[in-house]
Amino acid sequence: MYENILVETVGRVGLVRLNRPKQLNALNSTTLRELATAITAFEQAEEIGAMVITGNERAFAAGADIVEFQQTTLPELMRGLRADQYEVLRKVRKPLIAAVSGYAYGGGCELAMLCDLIVASDTARFAQPEINLGIIPGGGGTQRLTRQVGKYLAMEVILAGRVLSAWEALRHGLVNKVVPVELYLEEALELAQRIAERAPLATRLAKDAINRAQDLSLEQGLGLERSNFLIAFGSEDKQEGTTAFVEKRKPVWKGR
Ligand code: COA
Repeated sequence: MYENILVETVGRVGLVRLNRPKQLNALNSTTLRELATAITAFEQAEEIGAMVITGNERAFAAGADIVEFQQTTLPELMRGLRADQYEVLRKVRKPLIAAVSGYAYGGGCELAMLCDLIVASDTARFAQPEINLGIIPGGGGTQRLTRQVGKYLAMEVILAGRVLSAWEALRHGLVNKVVPVELYLEEALELAQRIAERAPLATRLAKDAINRAQDLSLEQGLGLERSNFLIAFGSEDKQEGTTAFVEKRKPVWKGR
């Protein structure tokens, strides 16, 4: 049903693999549209608690499809479809985990940074080389990379084409963990499964509060956390979670 991605379900985890190996998973419009569609379907599926986006060992994604960019006019780009797909992914409420091996360049790096957690193989490489094409990152790179690694390293990566190794990414807080290449997907799926087994409503409220922490003042952020906490406190899952603890049994979540 999809041309450029492979989709499967592993337990409570929805897995999407980018699948244009000959182009190093370059993100053309079809791939981005399919990715957004698949993730939206998992977002709506009650049996899914988290999603993993991955590529293959050689490449997570080597950025936007440069051949497509070469042929795209400004008016075409301004119709905004590309940006819309990124927005769809950004607004997903269930946790998104990137399992990154090999090249995560340009839009690939931006796609990883748009996720909530990043598991990297020891062969992962992160870069924003758009400047070499006479453009700049357009999928959040200048904003997310700078917030994560700070101004000076972001300048080096974006202006000078500096490539970050997996270990450098870990040192600068850009990834959660680095594992041997043969384990990166397994590790990401395990992490996703652990998250997916937890109370769904509380998970979404927590994700929302953490993501908003980067935009809001502490005062506003604490207010938002309070609201989300009250919503969680009023849920059936809160009653189930606390009762299960008292009764020394595993909780059965309802997601409400
Ligand atoms: N868009 C379209 N095709 C791409 C691509 C992209 N972003 N990145 C790689 N490819 C294609 C190459 O053209 C090549 O195709 P070919 O076999 O038909 O010649 C194939 O994928 C393999 O790439 P190649 O360059 O031979 O592999 P490599 O291991 O020597 O180098 C990279 C890998 C990622 C360093 C290099 O491909 C590269 O710099 N890609 C562009 C990255 C980029 O600028 N991304 C931002 C885009 S806005």
